[in-house]
Amino acid sequence: TYVIALPCVDVKDRACIDECPVDCIYEGDRMLYIHPDECVDCGACEPVCPVEAIFYEDDLPEQWSDYYKANVEFFDEVGVGSPGGAAKIGVIAGDHPVVSALPPQSH
Ligand code: F3S
Ligand code: F3S
Repeated sequence: TYVIALPCVDVKDRACIDECPVDCIYEGDRMLYIHPDECVDCGACEPVCPVEAIFYEDDLPEQWSDYYKANVEFFDEVGVGSPGGAAKIGVIAGDHPVVSALPPQSH
């Protein structure tokens, strides 16, 4: 799966959403999250993020290693499971605790 990391927090550019052929990039309060079971690893989202927040899981920089679990656990944390499409869900109230605990980010 691909993973969204810290640079997205409090930025949420959303350019990635338009690129995803399976609509598996979901919006939380402070960042977006890629659904690990729905992402087909097409990689289309990665180059369009203006703050370079998106990585293939094996390429996630060490300092952002927590974001693998943040993307994976978010969907259980907020209780949405695997909805099979982000557009119909809209903004999901809440964030993974790794993100909620962060002070406001200015990039
Ligand atoms: Fe975030 Fe980049 Fe997408 S800032 S919303 S991962 S385009
Ligand atoms: Fe979508 Fe990016 Fe995965 S475009 S399918 S979230 S690699």
